[in-house]
Amino acid sequence: MYFETHSHYDFDHYDNDRDQLLGEILPEAGIDYILNIGTSMKTSRTTLELAQKYDYIYAALGFHPHNAKDLRYRDLEIIAKMADEPKVVAIGEIGLDYHYDHSPRDVQREQFEAQLDLALNLGLPVVIHCREAAEDTMKILTASGAGAKIGGVMHCFSSGVVEAQKYLDMGWHIGVGGVVTYKNAPALREVVEITPRNRLLIETDCPYLSPDPNRGQRNDSRNLVYIAEKIASIWGTTAEEVAKITTQNAKELFSIK
Ligand code: NI
Repeated sequence: MYFETHSHYDFDHYDNDRDQLLGEILPEAGIDYILNIGTSMKTSRTTLELAQKYDYIYAALGFHPHNAKDLRYRDLEIIAKMADEPKVVAIGEIGLDYHYDHSPRDVQREQFEAQLDLALNLGLPVVIHCREAAEDTMKILTASGAGAKIGGVMHCFSSGVVEAQKYLDMGWHIGVGGVVTYKNAPALREVVEITPRNRLLIETDCPYLSPDPNRGQRNDSRNLVYIAEKIASIWGTTAEEVAKITTQNAKELFSIK
């Protein structure tokens, strides 16, 4: 019943129990769809391998802003070729991260634009990572025309309602993760309140960002239930209904039948 829209199951955090988790535990826990997310050339490859191995796993390919400095033009050609595989349903995660600045900001912007162009050429939606870079992210998205043409999700949304409204006006989706359960996140709960039901996706960003009550532990998609419960309490509905609606939203955005 759940669609996990942002995971990193290829990361070494899962080396000891990946097969058990993906092969048994998650399907039995009602995780019907997973979008695993690439962050570099290496993890784009391992993401695609997971999607080829498991029916219910789909792939997003791309370079995280942290790794923008490693992206070579050739990589874009390789990703374009990999995207021929029907299990590749998005480009991501791409964007800007001015909090850590692991890549120089001008390089981040340049590679964000290049990967948006790739997504536009392929006609695939994008998964956006944006941290402390709201203004430049919106500027680049607007200039590219991606907003109207391909659609996308603001993953692990962390700005307030004013920013959220801009993305909603653009026709985009808001990705909500474990942070919504944290005591110190009233702004995100306000965002959930104003987001139309057909425009919200849920995600764990696992292995990171476990929701309460499992905060601090390694995360996995079973924790989506806590995120759905919190959203349900804000919307005045049930977790089952949130699971159903957000699964439908993700299937539409990523064109999964
Ligand atoms: Ni991520």
